[in-house]
Amino acid sequence: MREPVRSTRITGWGMHAPELVLTNADLARIVDTSDEWIISRTGIRERRVAGPDETAASMAAIAGRRAIAVAGLEPDDIDLIVVATLTPDHLTPSTATLVREAIGNTRAAAMDLNAACSGFVYGYVTAHAFIKGRLARHVLVIGSDLLTRFLDYDDRTTCVLFGDGAGAVVLSASPEPSGAHGIEIAAEPAGAYKLWIPAGGSRRPASPESVARGEHYLRMDGPDVYRYATRAIAATARTAIERARLRRDDIDLFIPHQANSRIIEAVARGLHVPMERMFVNLDRYGNTSAASIPIALAEAVDSGRVAVGDRLLVVAFGAGFTAGAVAFEWAADPAAGGRAAAIDASSVAVRRAADWQPPNPLPAKLAALLAASSPAAPDGAGPDDASHNPVEAAR
Ligand code: UT7
Repeated sequence: MREPVRSTRITGWGMHAPELVLTNADLARIVDTSDEWIISRTGIRERRVAGPDETAASMAAIAGRRAIAVAGLEPDDIDLIVVATLTPDHLTPSTATLVREAIGNTRAAAMDLNAACSGFVYGYVTAHAFIKGRLARHVLVIGSDLLTRFLDYDDRTTCVLFGDGAGAVVLSASPEPSGAHGIEIAAEPAGAYKLWIPAGGSRRPASPESVARGEHYLRMDGPDVYRYATRAIAATARTAIERARLRRDDIDLFIPHQANSRIIEAVARGLHVPMERMFVNLDRYGNTSAASIPIALAEAVDSGRVAVGDRLLVVAFGAGFTAGAVAFEWAADPAAGGRAAAIDASSVAVRRAADWQPPNPLPAKLAALLAASSPAAPDGAGPDDASHNPVEAAR
């Protein structure tokens, strides 16, 4: 007889951040901004940028493979793969099907989920429901986003905020009774066009005109998103905590979506929670959208901030508008995180179309900036050598 499913718990976690680092000073060379403005208004110091051969699927597969290793499972133990992303490799097929093959799984169902920066929390809740409904025993939930290819590097109000990366967890069925557990997910469509990419979908397929008008880049009303974020984070967090039958003082560590340190500080003040109980790593990654919470969770556990029995709260907000929070008890041995080191990023490969060779996918200004910052710049030219500097050429 199958053992009863009484609870779900995270058994594996992992992340992948691309190697290329883009600092605020780098950005200040191509857009009218400064390190001082970005740090004081957002808390971001640097972000990672996916290289030409990396995609949402490749980053997701590496993070996913690491989470499976940490869980002590084999890829084929996974029954369902959910990839939360708003920057899939293609409109179709789903990124999750590419990930399934890349991680060496031969049997899982696979699907993408788009709830923007709230995607990981929505994915976690989907996994929880599949397991509680006995449709799956182990679900791989991945948040992977590659927004640096969808940013207008002439728009200083957006291009400084985002970075690339992926994070993952394995959520597993357990016969043990659940500890505290509370969920809230929400949507507020009045904010639909406050944070969006106008073209590339069925309302406005790609055309020379849509490209010329920059309609494939992210657009955002920053102050309106900011107001929504501070309100939605506090409200969804409170509801999830109540549903877990906890009080906010019972939460050992809050892991909020890493968008802006001012938002996180405002939420901490609103909830009367000291900043020491808010996990923040956006200074090194910027806003990685659906990846931000699983990356933060992996770093929190691996840096010793989480112990068995701790009560955690993950809370997100994003385009849509969407929001979500989950309060739960941590049950896995944090030391298992060391197993992720066995997965080398270069060992994970994603299938490519045999008859199609895309050109370098990086936006021209970003590609030029990275080429100029690289120590291997053409002819040995350093980044400050204007005569050989592709950034100057791109201006
Ligand atoms: O996952 C969800 C993603 N989105 C978010 O989380 C965004 C939420 N919003 C925010 O984080 C903030 O609204 C921003 C960081 C985007 C902007 O901060 P703000 O304090 O709301 O600034 P603002 O938009 O009101 O702009 C203030 C000034 C403007 O100049 P003027 O008109 O006062 O002369 C902007 O043009 O700051 C200017 N500005 C910049 N200056 C230097 C905007 N971006 C920059 C920049 N560098 N990168």
